[in-house]
Amino acid sequence: MSVRSAGWKTGLAILLGAVPALAFAATADAATTLGQAAAAQGIYFGTASAGSHFGESAYTTVLDREFTSVTPENEMKWETTEPSRGSFNFGPGDSVVSRAQANDQQVRGHTLVWHSQLPSWVSNGGFNAATLTTVMKDHIANVAGHYKGKVAHWDVVNEAFEDNGTRRQTVFQTTIGDGYIAEAFKAARAADPNAKLYYNDYNIEGVNSKSTAVYNMVKSFKEQGIPIDGVGMQGHLIVGQLPSDIRQNIQRFADLGVDVALTEVDIRMQLPADSGKLNQQATDYRNVTQACLAVSRCVGITVWGVTDKYSWVPDVFSGQGAALLYDDNYNPKPAYNATLAALGGSSTPTPTPTPTPTPTETPIPAGACSATYKTVNEWPGGFQAEVTVRNNGSSTQSKWSVTWTFPNDQKITQLWNGVYTQSGSSVTVKNESYNGTLSGGASTTFGFTGSSSGGNGAPSIMSCTAI
Ligand code: XIL
Repeated sequence: MSVRSAGWKTGLAILLGAVPALAFAATADAATTLGQAAAAQGIYFGTASAGSHFGESAYTTVLDREFTSVTPENEMKWETTEPSRGSFNFGPGDSVVSRAQANDQQVRGHTLVWHSQLPSWVSNGGFNAATLTTVMKDHIANVAGHYKGKVAHWDVVNEAFEDNGTRRQTVFQTTIGDGYIAEAFKAARAADPNAKLYYNDYNIEGVNSKSTAVYNMVKSFKEQGIPIDGVGMQGHLIVGQLPSDIRQNIQRFADLGVDVALTEVDIRMQLPADSGKLNQQATDYRNVTQACLAVSRCVGITVWGVTDKYSWVPDVFSGQGAALLYDDNYNPKPAYNATLAALGGSSTPTPTPTPTPTPTETPIPAGACSATYKTVNEWPGGFQAEVTVRNNGSSTQSKWSVTWTFPNDQKITQLWNGVYTQSGSSVTVKNESYNGTLSGGASTTFGFTGSSSGGNGAPSIMSCTAI
């Protein structure tokens, strides 16, 4: 049993004594992981994963628990799979695939034809068009052939366009010409007829010159019967700077008759992170998730890494980072909770460090609305708590507000799934736009971390109103 569900079930057992069992129906079914919540919405939730971290148990715990799809971060790239002509190396890719299979995760193959992480025997080989076409097709036949039946989606061609919508002048483009992309897709279909074949790129999440160029290519492929099944929007985004038309852009691709996936999502910020940036990031992740959920042909979301600790972002974008859903210590960030909530899951964050103390809780007398406070973790100088807000009535309420007074000097440092104000020891938390509505008997949970130096007692009186 996972750490997360064990903790949740323990909490459930304790709370059942305090509230009518029926009131729990709404949350008892709520998914507690990204993968489960996404599955309930009919999509997958994946991550890039690198075999080099498999020895770290905190890494594999989160990887196995949260995700239903895995993209090898580097292990299937050309420089690894065919480092010299005709000599193939599948060991690194195989280890990511077999681990994914053992955990019932599907695999996103990445990537067959790309200008980067391409060995110099290809980029500087001096091949003519016919030979380079053969080299490319042989590569696809061997790599996609090796993984036949094991890869659900292939990023067949990656990053073939410039931001202005022209073709990137890669060795494939300059040697073979525009037709290389169609040839690559045909070769991939022949090698693995059941894999879904994707064109994948960055800066194509909104409507712009580049996404329109990709759109026109996909349209012409569909018209000509070139086998393409989907478009991957990488989703390397910046906090507070999301395109406003992601949903419309996903929809226009879907309307061409292809699937869409968000394939490499990370939303970076200027370091150091602070609560304002982390909360904006949570909003951004929520918006990306909602954009995908709004379009039925958006089949899944993949984030580009399990933890900020190993993200590629700080290596490439100087001074930036903190772009993923888990921080360096594998604690779920506000963005995690927002993403899970957007997927209809229930946020019950489980920080990894320090032993969990016995939960303290304060049940509230029955009324139209009740709030239950629970300390879920404590460490020297800090703590994490969560509050479950429940509509005990039978009619739907559209807003809620919870207030309490801390008995000690607790100060909230970061709160998710709610908007808080704290003045001295008094705290008020109101719903976010996405979790205000509670039907009769339903509940929702918000959580927070805080600091405290003079003890960490739970508030004895919580008041909750819902309208
Ligand atoms: C990145 C990996 O995350 C790094 O480990 C590696 O050093 C470089 O490539 N677009 C892609 C991915 O399609 O393959 C890239 O992955 C990130 C940008």
